[in-house]
Amino acid sequence: MEALGVLGADGPAIGFPRIETERLVLRGPTEADLPHMPRVFNDPEIYAYTRNIPYPYGEADAVAALSRYWRLAAAGEALTLFPECRATGEMIGLVVLIMKPGGAEAELGYALGRAWWGKGYATEAASAAVGYAFASLGVDEVNAHAMVRNPASSRVLEKVGMRAVGIAEGLCKKDGEVFDAAGFAISRAAWEAR
Ligand SMILES: CC(C)(COP(=O)(O)OP(=O)(O)OC[C@H]1O[C@@H](n2cnc3c(N)ncnc32)[C@H](O)[C@@H]1OP(=O)(O)O)[C@@H](O)C(=O)NCCC(=O)NCCS
Repeated sequence: MEALGVLGADGPAIGFPRIETERLVLRGPTEADLPHMPRVFNDPEIYAYTRNIPYPYGEADAVAALSRYWRLAAAGEALTLFPECRATGEMIGLVVLIMKPGGAEAELGYALGRAWWGKGYATEAASAAVGYAFASLGVDEVNAHAMVRNPASSRVLEKVGMRAVGIAEGLCKKDGEVFDAAGFAISRAAWEAR
């Protein structure tokens, strides 16, 4: 496959975890996802609310993203997992845990394809990722930011059990515009006490 040459490897240098939830499996991104990634991520709204997902999103963007996900995971900098519907086998988006220097904190991010919005999948995937961060990555806190203009994402973070920690003014930049972000966090103790 042409992508193999582009990625320069037979697969990621680490074994990605496999996390099962009621309706989803979270697993590492693979070359088999490349044809599906544009279908899931090529969306101006996903672009508007996330940091690293381009729009338009084509085949070359998928190859570049897969290569980046593998490299960051191998370096221990960020773990990107793709949630898949257990019922259909469809890959529906991504959830990412970005490790902060020192290893005590991880930042959570996520994006789902539009076809799967409004069904509780983001909450289910994000909760599984937070649980994994505390159980297996050794962090003491998981935090996240949602643009203030993205209330659905703030709601996901609330439903995951995170508490609002304040507004970070001007944290997000997009196409020369600056936006405030709502900060959320949960400690290991709070997660275990839920
Ligand atoms: C944000 C996103 C992940 C939500 O995914 P989802 O699977 O629809 O989320 P869930 O179904 O688990 O929960 C969404 C919640 O937001 C609520 N919601 C949706 N739109 C809303 C709005 N405009 N205002 C307030 N709440 C809203 C829903 O009602 C639901 O809450 P409820 O269960 O209490 O009714 C998805 O829309 C997405 O990928 N958006 C683009 C990328 C993005 O924003 N990523 C997050 C970056 S921080």
